[in-house]
Amino acid sequence: MSLASDNQIIILGIETSCDETSAAVLVNGTELRSHIISSQIATHQKYGGVVPEIASREHILHFQKVVQEAFTEAQVGFNHLSAIAVTYGPGLVGSLLVGVAGAKAIAYAAGIPLIGINHLEGHIYANFLTHQDLTFPLLALLVSGGHTHLIYFEDHGRYTVLGRTRDDAAGEALDKVARALGLGYPGGPQIQKAGQTGDPAAFDFPRAMLEPDSLDFSFSGMKSAVLNTLNSARMKNQTLKTEDLAASFQQAVVDVLVRKSVLALERTDAKILLLAGGVAANTLLRETLEFELVKRGVGLYYPPPVLCTDNAAMIATAGYYHYLAKDFAPWTLNAVPGLSF
Ligand code: KG4
Ligand code: ZN
Repeated sequence: MSLASDNQIIILGIETSCDETSAAVLVNGTELRSHIISSQIATHQKYGGVVPEIASREHILHFQKVVQEAFTEAQVGFNHLSAIAVTYGPGLVGSLLVGVAGAKAIAYAAGIPLIGINHLEGHIYANFLTHQDLTFPLLALLVSGGHTHLIYFEDHGRYTVLGRTRDDAAGEALDKVARALGLGYPGGPQIQKAGQTGDPAAFDFPRAMLEPDSLDFSFSGMKSAVLNTLNSARMKNQTLKTEDLAASFQQAVVDVLVRKSVLALERTDAKILLLAGGVAANTLLRETLEFELVKRGVGLYYPPPVLCTDNAAMIATAGYYHYLAKDFAPWTLNAVPGLSF
């Protein structure tokens, strides 16, 4: 028996931009009927990072099964869908193409609209699924493996990027430092875990703040400071405590993210900060932001960890708002690996 009815807006979300094949069925923007994530982390772990060619092949292997499971769990079929929302960038081109081609095929066969979603917007919209009391204007701190952005939202679809990283993203820096420390991939959770028993003040790594009025980020020099510390210790045959290095680097990254967020809040009228992206799962970041924002009367919102990292529920949620705005993609929609915000 189907649970779908005519007056519902039912969106199938599809995400394949990196190393997760995911599909979700979302009803009326807030009711997540199903959410399937097939992660390739175990496959890529032995290489210390995502291997693009392997990622696309894995998506091809899992795409159909993941979509089918999402339908079965939601008790809906193609004929119940209002639209299909798919990530079309940024990401790995081969991976994105699997999702875009699959979504197009389903939408065309079912005779329903196709919606192209910017992956970065998707991350932020995970918050609209989790929290139903969000009001504009609001500020979003997007911190993922490939991006670090501060964005001011006046309304759905009306936003200004206030700052972005000039080199490494926060997650990328955490991943690279984790690899240098022999902690494995993905690095962020490993740094968090190792850092739990380390001293965050053991190493005074630089906090790159750039020009005094800049809301941009730079994590490359901070990452190099850790690598230089490791190299010079090796040359002197010294052993440094991995836990202390992890805790100190995590603290430095969090300090910069929090200080820039506070600066951005002071410059705008936003009373809400949305935290989004894989690094938003970081406990120290959440707790430090909470501490600083509560003093300023600003509300902090973030999704549960499963909706922080890549997933299709966030894509379906962003898709719902595009659907309301009748913002549909043409059949020529293509993967755009370097899509910006
Ligand atoms: O958003 P995401 O899943 O993929 C991209 O769109 O990039 O983010 C992945 C990033 C990786 O760099 C990973 O190390 C980081 O998020 N990450 C974390 C945590 N969980 C994932 N970083 C810090 N603490 C965590 N708990
Ligand atoms: Zn992502």
